[in-house]
Amino acid sequence: MEDGIEMLLLDKPTRFLLSHEPNPRLNMLIGGTLTSVYGLWAMFVLPGFRKVPFKLKVPFVPSSKVQTRNVMKLLEGRKGRLADLGSGDGRLVINAASMGFQSTGFEINSILLAYARIQARWKRIPSSEANFVNKDFWRTDLSRYNNVTAFLSPSTMEPLEVKLVSELPDDARVIVCRFPFPHWKPTSSEGTGLDQVWAYDVQSVRNRPTQNGCSVEMGDPMVTFS
Ligand SMILES: C[S@@+](CC[C@H](N)C(=O)[O-])C[C@H]1O[C@@H](n2cnc3c(N)ncnc32)[C@H](O)[C@@H]1O
Repeated sequence: MEDGIEMLLLDKPTRFLLSHEPNPRLNMLIGGTLTSVYGLWAMFVLPGFRKVPFKLKVPFVPSSKVQTRNVMKLLEGRKGRLADLGSGDGRLVINAASMGFQSTGFEINSILLAYARIQARWKRIPSSEANFVNKDFWRTDLSRYNNVTAFLSPSTMEPLEVKLVSELPDDARVIVCRFPFPHWKPTSSEGTGLDQVWAYDVQSVRNRPTQNGCSVEMGDPMVTFS
């Protein structure tokens, strides 16, 4: 009897693992799971992705709670208009709006844009305080914003330096997450590791030499579109 139970316990998983018989149910389950994962990924990452040149493509990765808190700390004492470049699900814009900023999120992914708008409405934040626009920020004049936040990718940071220094007003502050600017000297920083964020005051960037001793480029942004 004991042998029987042991055999039964050992036999079942071994039979399952070693069996070469086709298992249509298992195949359907794996196929269905992979299709759903791809569907979700495509839904959240792909819309708008093709509109941007390869070097400037940035997937959706939301700011963590700590990262969001760090950004808000570096915005303390400031006011006015804020632009989040690639606003994703809207968390930075919504948090900034609740601190009194007139906040605008630029986002090329229409699904994320719809989600962010619903979030803002759900939290009863009027669109005059948290506004989400379906626009490529590389093709947008940002000169009316005196606060800019960005959580992008390493390859976008150098072209972004050029765009922002040529467009933003002197009193503007730029806060970037996870990837610092390669040439600008930060005014301050908050957090460590993946949650680290850096603040740059445009006036001091314009007045000071860059990290490697060169002067700040004021010319055309390096970003060119076909
Ligand atoms: C890393 S996520 C950051 C999302 C959000 N700012 C946050 O901190 O949680 C970058 C976002 O930028 C968007 N994005 C990338 N390139 C863009 C562009 N040229 N114009 C507008 N949005 C863009 C992506 O769709 C993605 O949602």
